[in-house]
Amino acid sequence: MKPVKVGVLGLGTVGAGVVNLLTRNGDEITRRAGRQICVTRAAVQNLDKTRDCPVNAIDLGTDCRAIVEDPEIDVVLELIGGDGEAYDLVMAAIANGKHVVTANKHLIALKGNDIFAAADEAGVVVSFEAAVAGGIPIIKAMRESLAANRIEWVAGIVNGTSNFILSQMNFEDVSFEEALADAQRRGFAEADPTFDIEGIDAAHKLAIIGSIAFGIPLSFDRIHTDGIQNLAADDIEYAAELGYRIKHLGIARRQETGVEMRVHPTLVPERALLANVEGEKNAIMVYGDAVGPTAYYGAGAGAGPTASSVVADLIDTARIMSVDPAGRVPHLAFQPDQITEERILEAPDFVCGHYFRVQVADKTGVMAEITGMLAELEIGIEAILQKDPPTAEDDARVIIITKSVREGILMQALDQIRALPTTREGLVHLRVAEFDD
Ligand code: HSE
Repeated sequence: MKPVKVGVLGLGTVGAGVVNLLTRNGDEITRRAGRQICVTRAAVQNLDKTRDCPVNAIDLGTDCRAIVEDPEIDVVLELIGGDGEAYDLVMAAIANGKHVVTANKHLIALKGNDIFAAADEAGVVVSFEAAVAGGIPIIKAMRESLAANRIEWVAGIVNGTSNFILSQMNFEDVSFEEALADAQRRGFAEADPTFDIEGIDAAHKLAIIGSIAFGIPLSFDRIHTDGIQNLAADDIEYAAELGYRIKHLGIARRQETGVEMRVHPTLVPERALLANVEGEKNAIMVYGDAVGPTAYYGAGAGAGPTASSVVADLIDTARIMSVDPAGRVPHLAFQPDQITEERILEAPDFVCGHYFRVQVADKTGVMAEITGMLAELEIGIEAILQKDPPTAEDDARVIIITKSVREGILMQALDQIRALPTTREGLVHLRVAEFDD
């Protein structure tokens, strides 16, 4: 059979990883795919730059358009990033009847609905395994291997940079700034690291996971998104004292009234699997009604792991090139005409345990007042801690973990606590994980 010809847009770290992997494992890949997969063209910004892969067999140029319009190219591999030029090029590739493989979470999360509609119309496939959790085959697992299940929830560490920073702060006593600089040096932070630390990158990935889990349109801008940028080392310490680790999680969860889609720092019981995922590693748990909880762990970034997913997509693409478009695995797991809108819940409707820290005047009766307010609203207390603040000798810090409660009710209690004359500014609120593994 004729080789599959791949045109690559952007030959940076991941692109070089793909070429190296196709070269190193070429024979086995051909045996698996049923035909050879060859990168025949690539477009780069700077032709003079040294590449980390062999380029002698690649027609190297600077014109991305020429690749998406080249009738010889079967598959376009988009590795430019962002949702501007990359979107135009992917849509042009689709219009020209080419299959697309991309690692671009930003593009899929924001423009995936349009892209998949265009691809379905054109009878081509857009594959994006590397867009979520790098080398972990989570898209395939959810879309194919768990296809018999009703997915109840998905919870995961999907941003390696945030997880690395939290691990460093927790175990190495390193400051947030130092840990972020280290993540940047090691190469897994985004070019603009605010995408990592403000939770945007994790929200891109959660949008994709949530759609595949529930058969809903990609809904990035409806996701409740908090990053780790305001997390204080003190709260990491207090959480640890109470038996929890703080992890930056993406959570998609069904409720009777709709679905929760949220990304935020979360207290996870220290014995839970996700609490023990350290460094830049990613991990995702998926709960299916038939299978129960399942876990997926591995490298969420880096040339090798990302190339592993990209090349798997290229192999899948090679295999499906001869399959009737109607029989292909749907982009978002559900048949396109079965993607339905669901109510995506706002924060007041989230249901989980909560952690809050409040600084108060250290007077008799203050603690009783706070716990009384919680009792009045029928909010149960899981754990309670009192600490001296680092400054302000006459104050005390009260740290409380509540039992599971609707967030709107908790907010009422927190508003009342804030309004007490003995309460100082700066109440800290975090959520507690609400799933078992
Ligand atoms: N900046 C991302 C992360 C890279 O830290 O997870 C992989 O998507």
